[in-house]
Amino acid sequence: MSATLIDGKAIAADLRAKVAAAASRLARDHGLVPGLAVVLVGEDPASAVYVRNKGKATVEAGLASFEHKLAATTSQAELLALVSRLNADPAVHGILVQLPLPPQIDAQAVIEAIDPAKDVDGFHPVNAGRLSAGLPALVPCTPVGCVILAKTVRPQLAGCEAVVVGRSNIVGKPVAQLLLAENCTVTIAHSKTRDLPGVCWRADILVAAVGRPEMIRGDWIKPGAIVIDVGINRVEAGEGKTKLVGDVAFAEAAAVAGAITPVPGGVGPMTIACLLANTLKAASMQAG
Ligand code: GUN
Repeated sequence: MSATLIDGKAIAADLRAKVAAAASRLARDHGLVPGLAVVLVGEDPASAVYVRNKGKATVEAGLASFEHKLAATTSQAELLALVSRLNADPAVHGILVQLPLPPQIDAQAVIEAIDPAKDVDGFHPVNAGRLSAGLPALVPCTPVGCVILAKTVRPQLAGCEAVVVGRSNIVGKPVAQLLLAENCTVTIAHSKTRDLPGVCWRADILVAAVGRPEMIRGDWIKPGAIVIDVGINRVEAGEGKTKLVGDVAFAEAAAVAGAITPVPGGVGPMTIACLLANTLKAASMQAG
């Protein structure tokens, strides 16, 4: 392996410590404790783990955590009523409704019901629009984490060729907007892209967010590129065991890349750290 390993765990711990320090100043100087409400509907085990980790990290940073666990049979009207109560609650500065939601609930309607000022996921169309217009916004956590990680390797991204593989509203599109705001030349590639290996090979910064285990191979990567792997895929590891892999074939990619994020321990820890930072930002904005 020749690539530098980008230690997302350590970089996230550093950001969480900064959020904790800022939260403690906010409490001392303004008597304000930022509050994050996390809503989980149903019992999806992966979502339950994420929600538990978010609650734990929130408390560790000195923020207030409000967890709402609703039955899988919850109706859309019941969930919208909870969102409306949280919108009106002055102790709640950030609201996150964990996705995916059960099939009887229209996730887009729920996202649009959240007050954009409390939308710490940055999924509301008002925040997505503000990001693409270059206006101050609450920005989705995973994309912000990706850019922070890339900048630890190359603080000035201006002029870089960035290729984002994946066009979701949650990762692909917002990370492309953030890289554009850093003055990168940005390409968004997706399942219909012709010659995907050739497009990836152009990248100085390659962000993989497709959700397909080890799809991006070593010979798609330009020597020296920065590779940010957003994928978290659970695959068979033999003998009835499973393991987590990214969207990038790590060993192959690490032999040619200049720097690469591992899975786990790369982008994943940054998502929670950026969520805490967004909650602090939301609270500060609401305080005026
Ligand atoms: N499910 C997986 N990732 C996320 C996220 O970043 N936010 C929300 N709300 N749900 C998720």
